[in-house]
Amino acid sequence: MPEILSCLIRKLGQQFSIVSTISIYLLLLNIPSKAQDSLILLTDTIIDATVQIQTPPDDGIPVDSDIIGQGQTLFKNNCAVCHAVHEQVVGPALAGAHERRPLPWLQSFIKNSQQIIQSGDAYAVQIYEQFNKTEMPSFDFSDEEVLSVLAYIKEQTLNPPQAASQVAAEGTEGADAVSSGTTLSPGFLISVMVALVIVLVLILVVMIMLVNTLTTYLRQREGLDESEMELIEQRFSIINFVKSPAFVFGVSFIFIAIMLKSVIDGLYHIGVQQDYQPTQPIAYSHKLHAGDYAIPCQYCHTGVMDSKNASIPSANICMNCHSAIVKMTGVDEPSVEIQKIYDAVENNKPIEWVRVHNLPDLAYFNHAQHYNIGKVECQTCHGPIETMEVVKQYENLTMGWCIDCHRTTVLQTDNAYYDKLVELHDHADKGEMTVKDIGGLECAKCHY
Ligand code: HEC
Ligand code: HEC
Ligand code: HEC
Ligand code: HEC
Ligand code: HEC
Ligand code: HEC
Repeated sequence: MPEILSCLIRKLGQQFSIVSTISIYLLLLNIPSKAQDSLILLTDTIIDATVQIQTPPDDGIPVDSDIIGQGQTLFKNNCAVCHAVHEQVVGPALAGAHERRPLPWLQSFIKNSQQIIQSGDAYAVQIYEQFNKTEMPSFDFSDEEVLSVLAYIKEQTLNPPQAASQVAAEGTEGADAVSSGTTLSPGFLISVMVALVIVLVLILVVMIMLVNTLTTYLRQREGLDESEMELIEQRFSIINFVKSPAFVFGVSFIFIAIMLKSVIDGLYHIGVQQDYQPTQPIAYSHKLHAGDYAIPCQYCHTGVMDSKNASIPSANICMNCHSAIVKMTGVDEPSVEIQKIYDAVENNKPIEWVRVHNLPDLAYFNHAQHYNIGKVECQTCHGPIETMEVVKQYENLTMGWCIDCHRTTVLQTDNAYYDKLVELHDHADKGEMTVKDIGGLECAKCHY
C-alpha cells in the first residue's frame, strides 16, 4: 500500500514539474501583443468603412458620397494646410461657408481670391484685412473639383465632428472589447495552468498526509516481516525529492529555456532600434500638426514623391505658418519653442533634429519607390505618426521586415511600365503579382 502511494507521489511530482515548466514557457512567449495589434487594425478599418458609408441629407451642392470623398482628398491636399472646417487655422473656419456666400462667389474666390479682393468686393476685402492680408493661393481647379470641395465642407458642416468622434469613441471601445477578448485566450491558458499547479500541490499534500496515517497504522500492527518493515520505515524526504531525476530535469529545463530565450532575443536585437524615441531640440508635435490640423505629410516631407529621402523640413517651411500664427493670435511674444524657429531663421543656422530612422549604410531604401509607385502608406512603415507627440521608430526595420512585405504585397500595376510584365506574369499563371516577382528579394536591389 505505501509503495503504491509513494509511487503516486513521485508521479505527481513529475506532473507538477511538467505543468509548471509549460506555464513558465507560456509566460516567456508573450504571444498576445502582435495578435492584438492586428485585430485593432482590422476593427479600425471596418469602422472606417462603416463611417464612410453614411450618406448626407439632400441639398443644392452635390451630396454623392463619391464626390464628397473626392472633395475630402482635394481639401486634405490643398486646403487643410490653412483651413479646418470647425476651427480657425491660418484661414477662417470654413463651416457654413456655403451659407455665408453665394455659390458663384465661392467658386471664383477659391479659384482666384486675389482677383476678387482687387475687384473691391466688400466681404472679400474685409476678411482679407481681418486675416492680416494673408494671401490665399489660387487653385487651378475645374468647376466639378471646386464643387466637390464645397460638398465636403458642407457635409462636414452638417455632420460636425461631435457625431464623428462619438462614432470613433464607440468604435475604439468596441475595439478594446474585442482586443481584450483576444488577450483572454493566452492569459486564460496561463491561469488554467496556475490553477492546475495549485490543485496538484493540494493533492500532493493530501497524499503525504494519507501516507503518514497509513504508516503509523501499519507500525502499530504485529507480525510484519523484514522487507515490509523496511518499506514502512522509508520516509518521504525533501532531500530525496530534490535529488530525484524528475525534479532535477524540471529545474534544469526551466533554467536552460530561460537562458536560451534571452540569448536568442538578445542576438535578434543587436542593432535593432525599434521604439527609439529621442528628445528633439524643439517640442514639435506630429499629433498637433499632422493629426489635429491634418497637415499632409508631403507638405513638410517634400521628398517622398520623387526622391530616396523623405527629407526633414527646413525652418523656412515652419515659418510659412508660424510667421502668420503669432500675428493672428495677437500674442506679443512667441512661445519659447516658436522662438527657437525664429532664431534658426535669423541666424541662418539649421535646427539640429535628431534622426530617428536610420538603416545601416549597406542597405538602400527609396521613399518615392514605395510611396509614389508602390502606394504604400507612410503609416504602414512608420505607424500612427499623426498621434505621436514625439516620433518613435515603430517597426524594427530589419531585413526580414522588408522581405516579408515584399513576399506578400501585391503590386499596383495600373502603371503602364508594368503592362508587359503583367502580361508575362498572367501567362505563367502564378497567382497575384507581388514585389518578389519583380526582383524584390534580390540581394543587389537592396544592397550596395
Ligand atoms: C496659404 C493658406 C490658404 C490655403 C492653402 C487655402 N486658403 Fe482659403 N483662405 C485663406 C485665408 C488667409 C483666407 C482669408 C481671406 C484672405 O486672407 O484672403 C481664406 C479664405 C477662404 C474662404 C472664405 C472664407 C469665409 O469664411 O468666407 C474660403 C471659402 C476658402 N478660403 C476656401 C479655401 C479652399 C476651398 C481651399 C483649398 C482649395 C483654400 N481655401 C486654401 C488661406 C488659405
Ligand atoms: C509641419 C511639418 C510636418 C508635417 C506635416 C509632418 N512632419 Fe514628419 N517631421 C517633421 C519634423 C520637423 C521632423 C523632425 C523632428 C522629429 O523627429 O519630430 C519630422 C520627423 C518625421 C519622422 C522621423 C524622421 C527620422 O528622423 O527618422 C517621420 C517618420 C515622419 N516625420 C513622418 C511623418 C508622417 C508620416 C507625416 C504625415 C502623417 C508627417 N511626418 C507630417 C515635420 C513634419
Ligand atoms: C501649415 C501650417 C504649419 C506649419 C508648416 C508648421 N506649423 Fe507649427 N503650428 C501650426 C498651428 C496651427 C499650431 C497651433 C498654434 C496655437 O495653438 O497657438 C502650431 C503649433 C506649433 C507648436 C506649439 C505651439 C507653441 O507656441 O509652442 C510648435 C512647437 C510648432 N508648431 C512647431 C513647428 C515647427 C518646428 C514647424 C516646422 C517643422 C512647424 N511648427 C510648422 C501650424 C503650422
Ligand atoms: C515601405 C516603408 C516606408 C514607407 C511607406 C515610408 N517610409 Fe519613411 N522611412 C522608411 C525607412 C526604412 C527609413 C529609413 C531610411 C534610411 O535610413 O535610409 C525611413 C525614413 C524616413 C524619414 C527620415 C529620413 C529621410 O528619409 O529623410 C522620414 C522623414 C520619413 N521616412 C518620412 C516618411 C513619410 C512622410 C512617408 C509617407 C509619405 C514615409 N516615410 C513612407 C520606410 C518607409
Ligand atoms: C509595407 C511593404 C513594404 C516594406 C516594409 C518594404 N517594401 Fe520595398 N517595396 C514595396 C513595394 C509595394 C514595392 C514595389 C514598388 C513598385 O511597384 O515598383 C517595393 C519595391 C522595392 C524595391 C525595388 C524592387 C524592384 O525590383 O524594383 C526595393 C529596392 C525595395 N523595395 C527596398 C526595400 C527595403 C530596403 C525595405 C526595408 C528597409 C523595404 N523595401 C520595405 C513594399 C515594401
Ligand atoms: C528588400 C531588401 C533586401 C533584400 C532583397 C536583401 N536584403 Fe540584406 N538587408 C536589408 C536591410 C534593410 C538590412 C539591414 C537590416 C538591419 O540593420 O537589421 C540588411 C542586412 C543584411 C546583412 C547584415 C549585415 C550586417 O552587418 O548586419 C546581410 C549579411 C545581408 N543583408 C545579406 C543579404 C543577402 C545575401 C541577400 C540576398 C539573398 C539580401 N541581403 C537581400 C535589406 C535587404
